[in-house]
Amino acid sequence: MQSPAARLAVIIPVYNEAANVAPMVARLDAALAGLDWEAVFVDDDSPDGTAAAAREIAGRDPRVRCLRRIGRRGLASACVEGFLSVSAPFVAVIDGDLQHDETILPAMLAAVEGGADIAVGSRHVAGGAAAGGFSAARGALSEGGARLARALLPTPVADPMSGFFLLRRALVEEVAPRLAARGFKILLDILLSARRPLRVAEIPYAFRAREQGESKLDATVLLEFAGLLLDKATGGAVPLRFVAFAAVGGLGVLVHMAALGALVGWLGLGFAAAQWAATFVAMTANFILNNRITYRDARLRGARLWRGLALFYLVCGIGAAANVGIASVLVQDGVLAWGLAGAAGALITVVWNYAVSSTLVWRTR
Ligand code: GDD
Ligand code: MN
Repeated sequence: MQSPAARLAVIIPVYNEAANVAPMVARLDAALAGLDWEAVFVDDDSPDGTAAAAREIAGRDPRVRCLRRIGRRGLASACVEGFLSVSAPFVAVIDGDLQHDETILPAMLAAVEGGADIAVGSRHVAGGAAAGGFSAARGALSEGGARLARALLPTPVADPMSGFFLLRRALVEEVAPRLAARGFKILLDILLSARRPLRVAEIPYAFRAREQGESKLDATVLLEFAGLLLDKATGGAVPLRFVAFAAVGGLGVLVHMAALGALVGWLGLGFAAAQWAATFVAMTANFILNNRITYRDARLRGARLWRGLALFYLVCGIGAAANVGIASVLVQDGVLAWGLAGAAGALITVVWNYAVSSTLVWRTR
């Protein structure tokens, strides 16, 4: 009889990896022969049928499961949910695109059983290699990020950017509430969220080239990486999402001024009409940017996008009214000079817009 819980659970984040699912299971089966293992594919509702491919295998192999998330995106959060869905004493993460070398998993398990807190599949220790899997530009980017990451880490780690690692589930459960769980760097997140320096064992492997499908790393993922470092460097003092929201708001002011200039200067519109039109342009631009960056993990699409936009106009409208109202009262009562009163009104508006956007428009809580 199979034991109630597997010894090792392998979490495999997947987005548009349909062609890689079956080869992945076959490779795990070969690499983990003799070990009691299970695999969980965590899919963010990929349009290419990745979940169906995983379920098809799960239908005949009880070691394989699929967790399908709807309306969500994110490699790191997919890993966290995968971890929390299993009961095996040891858990690992491996990319679902066959770029990581699954044959070192038994050595990684042995390292953790032997006393390491976390075993990392490493491209940057003797015997490891990164060249095969990355373009020169992507390699340089990865090295730059690794330098920043190493500066924050309490212990030396040659490959802190790795997405391939194994640890005890108990440790994950311990740090899970503190994880930022945004972007791609879930290993770094775990290392920086633990309350003590973790003993890291790095096991070399050669990063392979991707054969099917394409990388999901884009500019927003890089922003999320910067955000993760900022969050961990400041001890989580500033909510990341608020920083992104405020930065988008700052950009919105520039958009507003540009639109106003164009409408008055080029089209000869009267000031009041142009100011209204510019406000709408700026709000729309802010909505699009927030949907893509600030709330990327809860991005609205289709009918929900239009409902969200309408709600966003309403929220910002109320925010603007509050801004003018509060600033006017402060000036009239002589509490503050006009500059400070204006700034206070603007600050209250940003906080209001953020709080209501996060709860009603994008529903992140
Ligand atoms: N569920 C889910 N949701 N999975 C995702 C998402 C997402 O939003 N984005 C990416 N994935 C999955 C991919 O399908 C793939 O299986 C894995 O996460 C890695 O994504 P890639 O897009 O292939 O990333 P990469 O090859 O550029 O970088 C990866 O490898 C590096 C080397 O270890 C990442 O894991 C990096 O963090 C890592 O440093
Ligand atoms: Mn990849």
